[in-house]
Amino acid sequence: MALITLDFGQSYTPRHHEMALRQGRQPCEAPDLGRNDLGAARFARSAPVRDPRPVCDLLDPVRRITLPSDRSRCRARGVLMQPSRVFIVGSGVVGTATGTGLLAAGNTVTFIDISVPRVRHLQAQGLDARTELDLSSEPDSFIFLTLPTPNVGWRYDLGAFTAGTAAVGRALAGSSAQHTVVVRSTVSPGTTEGLVRPVLEENSGMTAGEGFRLASNPEFLRAVSAAEDFSHPWMTVIASRDPQAVARLRGLLEPFGGEMRTFSDPAEAEFIKCAHNIFNATKISFWNEMWLIAQKIGLDLDPIAATVAKSAEGSINPQYGIRGGAPYGGVCLPKDTCGFLGYSDAIGVDMPLLQAVVETNNRLESVVKQEVEAAGKAASGIPTA
Ligand SMILES: NC(=O)c1ccc[n+]([C@@H]2O[C@H](COP(=O)([O-])OP(=O)(O)OC[C@H]3O[C@@H](n4cnc5c(N)ncnc54)[C@H](O)[C@@H]3O)[C@@H](O)[C@H]2O)c1
Repeated sequence: MALITLDFGQSYTPRHHEMALRQGRQPCEAPDLGRNDLGAARFARSAPVRDPRPVCDLLDPVRRITLPSDRSRCRARGVLMQPSRVFIVGSGVVGTATGTGLLAAGNTVTFIDISVPRVRHLQAQGLDARTELDLSSEPDSFIFLTLPTPNVGWRYDLGAFTAGTAAVGRALAGSSAQHTVVVRSTVSPGTTEGLVRPVLEENSGMTAGEGFRLASNPEFLRAVSAAEDFSHPWMTVIASRDPQAVARLRGLLEPFGGEMRTFSDPAEAEFIKCAHNIFNATKISFWNEMWLIAQKIGLDLDPIAATVAKSAEGSINPQYGIRGGAPYGGVCLPKDTCGFLGYSDAIGVDMPLLQAVVETNNRLESVVKQEVEAAGKAASGIPTA
């Protein structure tokens, strides 16, 4: 059976359903996560026969998930885990995956959620779940903010995120222990220091770095395989101004394995997560734009895309194209981007993404030109504006 996997992070919407039917594909049963964001939706071309492999193998054939429990995995790696006290604030997809993963690794975890049905649902699974955070008699703990950060038009709506953060601040005020607050929600660069920190300080009467520690630790999991992804991360990013916060989080998360990168500015971690998602979105839109061309001229895009995925250096070389500040040049890229725009226009297909690629390159060319001119003037002693 040929399986088509929409890339991760795509929502499975009625539009996808309609699209699958229009393309002569049968939508497969997708795991029911109780919400619309199903991450990768799987479509079958023919009869939807279930693949016997676990869902993670289907989604990422490189990382086979056949390992035993988290505890025995940690023992196998020779990592001695110190159990920690953990609170999860916002116990939806990310919060539940984070909390249950940390619980399975031997930590003591309490789930907090404003939604009573959600709390009851978690309690019914035998988890410690509550509607309010009470830190009054707790030891030094990790408090993960896994609150929603939806968009409203062209901006993030941080209403629920701010309300949940303020509640954490009030709970900190009633505690003498030194807790580490960890921003795990996806937020724009600067939010941890520009919003979370002042809200916590205002509501706790404490200062970050003294009364409590503050860090950013974005989540990279995919909704469709959230629990597996949390327990088997391929990348963990931790950022904090406070080296002790980094060290504490490293100790908590290192036993799960995968590559770990640490930064001293939370904005770097926030930027990584946003760029990560936007890069994935851009790749999906790129191939959808190409799919529109292929449809128009009667070609099947799948074998074409599968070949380019192995032929283009941008696909196979992780270093290619990732250094910002320089436009592409040479003969081929300028010629073929512009030439293909003319071709698509001639066959009546708009390519707004490719147009944006050319415009961005033109903009970078003028930025670099101005910088070179300014540097030249500075070197020759001519005053710049
Ligand atoms: N879903 C994903 O695949 C995914 C992956 C990586 C990162 N993220 C990011 O993680 C964050 C959480 O996403 P999610 O998908 O888990 O959201 P979600 O909607 O599944 O869960 C959020 C939970 O927070 C609860 N909540 C809302 N306000 C609250 C408050 N004031 N106090 C306590 N609980 C409150 C809600 O009731 C809900 O259960 C977002 O920033 C999202 O962008 C999501």
